[in-house]
Amino acid sequence: MLTELDQIEETALSTLDEAQDEAALETWRVTHLGRNSPLMGVFDNIGSLPKGERPAIGRRANEVKRALETALAEKAESLRQSSLAHALQAERLDVTLPGRPIRLGRLHPVTQTLREIYRIFAEMGFQVYLSREVETDEYNFQLLNFPPHHPAREMQDSYYIETGHDRGDNPLLLRTHTSPGQIRSMREFAAQDPENPPPVRIILPGMCYRYEQISARYEIQFTQVEGLAIGEHITFGDLKGTISDFGRRLLGQQVRTRFRASHFPFTEPSAEVDFECFLCGGEGCSVCKYTGWLEIMGCGMVHPTVLRNGGYDPLRYTGFAFGMGPERLTMLRHRIEDIRYFWANDLSFLEQF
Ligand code: PHE
Repeated sequence: MLTELDQIEETALSTLDEAQDEAALETWRVTHLGRNSPLMGVFDNIGSLPKGERPAIGRRANEVKRALETALAEKAESLRQSSLAHALQAERLDVTLPGRPIRLGRLHPVTQTLREIYRIFAEMGFQVYLSREVETDEYNFQLLNFPPHHPAREMQDSYYIETGHDRGDNPLLLRTHTSPGQIRSMREFAAQDPENPPPVRIILPGMCYRYEQISARYEIQFTQVEGLAIGEHITFGDLKGTISDFGRRLLGQQVRTRFRASHFPFTEPSAEVDFECFLCGGEGCSVCKYTGWLEIMGCGMVHPTVLRNGGYDPLRYTGFAFGMGPERLTMLRHRIEDIRYFWANDLSFLEQF
């Protein structure tokens, strides 16, 4: 019986090393320490042995059992250690690797130009007024002195919103210019004191939409910045002074300004403004198409009908308005040759600014 126990111990211990994971270890435990193992068979048989042999066999059987249990515990621990070591090795974090760079965003080139325009006009006392992009035909055209079917509408082919009708005869559209903001802002200012409406000095920036044939020069969406000044005694001289000063602040003190007679239904008189080409100083180059001048904006004295529509008595108040396209300004300054780049979301373009 004692040799059998030696045998049991030896067999068990010699196979323990083969167990390389928890499942194998469990199988080993069931085989060598489990209910049906040879060792347990010895315990079961002790009762049937002659009385004299029982203590020695019992003591030895317990010894073997403890030895196996200890060996099992040690093996389990060493397996745990080596799998930990393995994990540490395999899942090691190499903190010496250079980090992945975080891509920094930046301001869109048109936003940069807009901010510069805001800054210059802020210095001249103009506030920024935001007006809606979805307009009614009434605000976008009629109140600005474009009657239905007026040929000047042809210049601004529009996106009408078919499902949205604010009264049957006044469909909704995407604004074709920022000028409807003139009426909205005047009405808001005039409402403060209808008998004595306060002076207005604002710029109105924002997106506009026209149904254009898209090309290097025309987009169906573009930004505009409108300017509006209303008060008593405002003259065309104030308009010229303000815009010339804007040109100098934007492009340099030496830049000259030129006004050419033009027509808009909502200003009278009206003009187109050219700034002297800042690249060639008026000599003529490819950017100014060898004219020495760059067309920058439309402007004029606010039409009496528009003043009245805004709640300002044209016998007492006068004012001027202007409108320009920041994309065009940005194109000139950076010599960008195609307006389609601005809203194409191409990073290789946008990252250059
Ligand atoms: N709204 C005009 C356009 O889009 C520009 C303009 C604004 C002209 C204000 C005169 C006064 O063409």
